[in-house]
Amino acid sequence: MIERTALSEEFVHFNQSTLFLHYGIHQSEPVIRAKLALAEPDGFLAVRDRGIVAGAVSRRLTMTVRPGRTLPATGLGEIAVLPSHRRRGLLRELMRAHQRTSAEAGHAFTVLNASEGGIYGRFGYAPVTTDSVWTLDPRTAAIPRTAPCEVELLDAAAARTALPPAFDAYQRATPAELAREPAWWRTRFDCPEAVGAPADQHCVLARGKQADGAATGYALWRRPAPWSQETGPAPVIVDEFIAPDHTTTQALLAFFTGLDLCDRVEFRRRPLTAPLHWRFADPRSMRLTGATDRLWVRLLDVPAVATACLTGLDAPLTLRVHDANGPADGAWDIEPGPYGPARTAADLGPEADGLRVPYGPGCAKSRRGAADLELEAGDLAAVLLAGTDVPRLMAAGRLVEHTSGSALRLARALAGTGAPHCSTVF
Ligand SMILES: CC(C)(COP(=O)(O)OP(=O)(O)OC[C@H]1O[C@@H](n2cnc3c(N)ncnc32)[C@H](O)[C@@H]1OP(=O)(O)O)[C@@H](O)C(=O)NCCC(=O)NCCS
Repeated sequence: MIERTALSEEFVHFNQSTLFLHYGIHQSEPVIRAKLALAEPDGFLAVRDRGIVAGAVSRRLTMTVRPGRTLPATGLGEIAVLPSHRRRGLLRELMRAHQRTSAEAGHAFTVLNASEGGIYGRFGYAPVTTDSVWTLDPRTAAIPRTAPCEVELLDAAAARTALPPAFDAYQRATPAELAREPAWWRTRFDCPEAVGAPADQHCVLARGKQADGAATGYALWRRPAPWSQETGPAPVIVDEFIAPDHTTTQALLAFFTGLDLCDRVEFRRRPLTAPLHWRFADPRSMRLTGATDRLWVRLLDVPAVATACLTGLDAPLTLRVHDANGPADGAWDIEPGPYGPARTAADLGPEADGLRVPYGPGCAKSRRGAADLELEAGDLAAVLLAGTDVPRLMAAGRLVEHTSGSALRLARALAGTGAPHCSTVF
């Protein structure tokens, strides 16, 4: 029987011991309390057999689905079942309870980070974002320095006020990015370990040259090993690189290519397809050196997500979605919306003021007999958020086209969404 409760001493100790038991990670009680304080007040799921034997924690999140458009989501984390109680269906029970309450709360998605790739597909989740590592050789990397942007090193106090607005602008433009609330930022600066951030990072900020000199992006970086005469130049790690436009990207890259006493710069947690390496005259100056899936997404509300993502649809489309016992199962008719001026600034994003955009399509359970396209719910989430694309799904046999031309219609409706990325750990 699943209990849904508030944070208790018992849950703190369960979390601390399972982290150590399953991952070999020791987190202090203050770090665990800071991390768990970001959860929903009643978001602690537990199964008891005398003490807690299985648990998970849910968080309310806001996720960008296409530039300028966000939807509510729930995050599930801290999932653990004691080794003495594994393979008795406790994870399945936790997932069922979590998905039911998330759907009842009106959330469009539930999302998680997976410890292993083989667990969550059966519960309707699909990997949508990839974290990649790109390694730069500063000795061969040449990049033109850009005039309209300046960089500046910030201390921790200045970073507290400069980073949140710069991140917000990037988050609203990037599919799958999660909003960082003020409580998240407070935790980020007061107890970085609680949000998966290393302590002792440096911050370099980019500022536009407009009169207000507003921050346009930033990077958080560190030197993991100290310099010594014996070892010579050492690596630099960039943990977060937030640069939503061209000039900010150039300015921050120029900063890292110019660092002294550095033999390589590792850019971690980068979106896989954002082409930083194309900016160098020698594209081998920056190489892909690692990649892993990051955010797994489970669709809960097909009409909300389809209407938010398919504003470019130019003709009706019926999708047959497979979602065993899940809310996305069934056939869905999606109708294109009438065109007109944007209703709110949030519909457009900051750059598109004054453009005419679709009012957005409608989506409802199908009244047609036949479907144009057929796919699994996880693949639908991945393609709507641009974590994959229509040709790739078709090539993998995961998208079946019943009506000729309908796959192209879906692809056209999603064109130009931009690579998804999720840089917020929960
Ligand atoms: C992974 C874990 C949560 C599974 O819990 P559980 O209660 O044993 O899982 P269940 O008995 O409910 O299994 C549900 C399904 O998942 C499958 N499954 C469970 N663990 C799996 C794994 N590690 N890899 C692949 N499949 C797995 C089961 O075979 C079962 O499949 P089926 O119902 O389709 O036959 C648990 O083993 C655990 O806590 N592991 C260590 C910590 C961890 O990895 N947590 C997940 C963090 S994202």
